[in-house]
Amino acid sequence: MSTKSLSKLDQPKNVTNNEKVLGADDFIVSKTDLKGKIIYCNEIFAKMAGYSFDELIGANHNLIRHPDMPKVAFKILWDLIQSKKEFFGFVKNLCADGGYYWVFAYITPDFDQHGNIISYTSVRRKMSDSAKKAVAPLYNQLLEAERSGGVSASQQLLDELLKEKNMSYNQLVISLQIGAKL
Ligand SMILES: Cc1cc2nc3c(=O)[nH]c(=O)nc-3n(C[C@H](O)[C@H](O)[C@H](O)COP(=O)(O)O)c2cc1C
Repeated sequence: MSTKSLSKLDQPKNVTNNEKVLGADDFIVSKTDLKGKIIYCNEIFAKMAGYSFDELIGANHNLIRHPDMPKVAFKILWDLIQSKKEFFGFVKNLCADGGYYWVFAYITPDFDQHGNIISYTSVRRKMSDSAKKAVAPLYNQLLEAERSGGVSASQQLLDELLKEKNMSYNQLVISLQIGAKL
């Protein structure tokens, strides 16, 4: 089955500064195939993103990719999950109406009985305010580095930060969610 071409997706989005905030008890869940095509999502996913289930199922997950997200964040995501590891990260997502919402995301590969990856599952919770304060400017810096030097430049910047903190990417993300400062 080919990836859906969506009516709302095809329209150029007017990116706005309208933020939607996830409830403290909400979990946004989605599941994708091996290429990132959405095969399941829950109601709160559809509500936050502003799409119908019909529009979401079968679409590539990048339909909610926000232009403020640095490429390196998705590179780390895919490198980890394709090597059978978990990923933790902060993601700014784009709503159908051009607004945005931040999430603290967890993504894991799903395995068959032989240990082969058969799909990926993501569960997201509300991102803490302190993490938002730290991560938004960091992502701007990474984006800036990508504009001049591509993903290798943002990767280098991030590697230096992780080295200075003596942490893995996932460790840094979790520490920021619970109040650490950059
Ligand atoms: C299970 C799963 C969940 C994902 N969730 C999101 C998400 O919420 N927002 C997002 O922008 N990308 C998400 N991605 C990453 C997208 O597949 C994609 O790599 C990203 O949007 C960048 O798109 P691009 O590589 O086409 O630029 C997810 C991937 C997987 C496997």
